[in-house]
Amino acid sequence: MIPLDENSIRSHINTTEINQPLHFHLLNTIDSTNRFLKENPSNEGITICCAETQTQGRGRFGRAWHSPFGENIYFSARWHARCELSGLSGLSLVVSLATLNTLNELGFTDNLSIKWPNDILWHEKKLSGCLIELLAPAKTQTEVVIGIGINVNSSLKASSDTNEQLINRPWCSLFDITTTLYDRNLIIGRLITHLNRYLQHLISHGFAYFLPKWQLVDGLKGRLITVSQSSGSISGIAQGIDHTGQLIIIDSHGNTHALSSGDTSIKCSI
Ligand code: BTN
Repeated sequence: MIPLDENSIRSHINTTEINQPLHFHLLNTIDSTNRFLKENPSNEGITICCAETQTQGRGRFGRAWHSPFGENIYFSARWHARCELSGLSGLSLVVSLATLNTLNELGFTDNLSIKWPNDILWHEKKLSGCLIELLAPAKTQTEVVIGIGINVNSSLKASSDTNEQLINRPWCSLFDITTTLYDRNLIIGRLITHLNRYLQHLISHGFAYFLPKWQLVDGLKGRLITVSQSSGSISGIAQGIDHTGQLIIIDSHGNTHALSSGDTSIKCSI
């Protein structure tokens, strides 16, 4: 295992593209890298926290994010956006596109898709997820913590039944795809570069700029899905997303719904 290393991560970042200071917290163990960044005052610029393991890694909808030591990427970035919250519509989709772009650059191009809003799947198995937490929205500035988990060197075959139960959903890793072990420092460096570029584009052009990219990797369009929300669940055929990133579905009565959040599950293809 190659340990997390700041110099190595920095050597893989396009520093010419990033015009603000980058601060790193590379930790051996922490409860959650998102929690760490939320509760520690940030400096000017972008603050990154990665850990070798998380004891209470957090997923969406209160789920746990399994975080075995030294195997995968547990990454969080605390980022000041110089805009109001409304200027960040579609942020979680853009984060997943930036992550996917990082994987494409590493040579992963086939059979990858995104399950709205932000799960990256390989052959329908989850490779990466993201959890965005909002901090102190103000008039002209919004601060967010962007948490990304990527299954890198964990092996599905080697994982125990207990771990599978903990995750409780089909998943896989980059190692499972290629049987190659990856240097996480390289992936993190490239991820920071792409994330920064995609976020700058989101602020300057809005989400509509990303629509054509999304349409190429939309894993739900044309499929029968159920979206669970706190108010209940809706099933129907996914139609794609609109220019703000909302998911459009048509239910069995022919009614159209535009959803801005929820947990999606795929029922079958049509
Ligand atoms: C999901 O798909 O449910 C979101 C998973 C997000 C996991 C990452 S790992 C790094 C960061 N710290 C956390 O506690 N969660 C995110």
